[in-house]
Amino acid sequence: MDLFEYQAKELFAEYGVLIQRGGVASTAAEAEAIAADFAANGSPQVVIKAQVKTGGRGKAGGVKLAASPAEARAKAEAILGMDIKGHTVHSVLVAEDVDIAEEYYLSFLIDRAERTFLAICSVEGGVEIEEVARTKPEALARIPVSPLAGVDRATALEIVRAGGLPEHAQAGAAELAERLWAVFTDEDATLVEVNPLVYTGEGRVLALDAKVTLDDNAAFRQDWAAFADPTAVDPIEARAKAKHLNYVKLDGSVGIIGNGAGLVMSTLDVVAYAGEEFGGVRPANFLDIGGGASAEVMANGLDIVLSDPHVRSVFVNVFGGITACDAVANGIVSAMALLAERGDAVTHPIVVRLDGNKAVEGRAILAAAALPGIEQVGTMDDAARRAAELAAAAANGA
Ligand SMILES: Nc1ncnc2c1ncn2[C@@H]1O[C@H](COP(=O)(O)OP(=O)(O)O)[C@@H](O)[C@H]1O
Ligand SMILES: [Mg+2]
Repeated sequence: MDLFEYQAKELFAEYGVLIQRGGVASTAAEAEAIAADFAANGSPQVVIKAQVKTGGRGKAGGVKLAASPAEARAKAEAILGMDIKGHTVHSVLVAEDVDIAEEYYLSFLIDRAERTFLAICSVEGGVEIEEVARTKPEALARIPVSPLAGVDRATALEIVRAGGLPEHAQAGAAELAERLWAVFTDEDATLVEVNPLVYTGEGRVLALDAKVTLDDNAAFRQDWAAFADPTAVDPIEARAKAKHLNYVKLDGSVGIIGNGAGLVMSTLDVVAYAGEEFGGVRPANFLDIGGGASAEVMANGLDIVLSDPHVRSVFVNVFGGITACDAVANGIVSAMALLAERGDAVTHPIVVRLDGNKAVEGRAILAAAALPGIEQVGTMDDAARRAAELAAAAANGA
């Protein structure tokens, strides 16, 4: 889960990481009120910053200076509702103006290739960091960090020196880096990034921008409820999550249900491949029902997949292992009855491919049930092709 800049900065503040102060606003009037508070405290100049979970806001016109509360209102008005790389701006951060003398870069992340943590630091921070990384990679110091040793003050100093930070900024930057490491580890983040890390005219080092990605796998031991972003969640994905289903919405028309993440991934591939023949029919979702496909899990899965209005056909692809195909077949039969009982009778064609453990028994159960709309196909490729064909036919008939 990515955080908004203002949320990341709230976390930073809890750990004593020095930040540019500010308040978040979702209307121009709120932005003006926050700016008025700053003005009352003797700093009328503020910066209005679009809160979207993507970088390059500055270059896209999403970061603007305002000299007065009235101007803050006007700038917020202009930025709210703006589209930045496909992200709509729903809120702005009204932040104190900072007298920037120098802009650096600092981040901690997981280096998956090297299986370790990594610090990246550079004296050349700011909005051109991607350009620096491309043209002058040597300007970015990459320092592996041992997960056992972590980052103490001495390591932090090594990091900021490796990045080429000047003498006058080293102590402040090292203190900030040490605290940033605490954010990274204690909050179970996979990325904490400060760009720019600034050295101010008054000689302070602070985080002017903040980017944090939290590791969703650690959600069970963290309290992240406050970070939930209702504007970003797909309603079907939210319902699937509530039912503990591993569902990801895609943009095609063939609903997919399978057991095992690897099988479902390859099902997406074969459906997309087979769909080319029918004018580019594509999978509508990823859904892994895992092991133990009970009638209820199958019913919930079908219900979720079919609630996507773009779905025209469904492909149930199961390779029986620990969960045997006869159990899955019984699950499908009961699921159809359960859905009909709930008033959600299935009206789209369903293509089923059962293979592996107890495939013969499973196929016999489905054949005997003779449910309307359910077709069995022997191989994964043929079943994918049939599901794509049915989706194309339904789309043309609609
Ligand atoms: N409070 C501020 N005072 C002055 N300049 C700022 C302030 N906040 C941001 N800027 C300028 O805007 C640039 C981009 O802001 P930043 O927060 O890094 O957004 P992004 O990385 O999304 O472009 C900064 O590098 C800085 O030069
Ligand atoms: Mg930035």
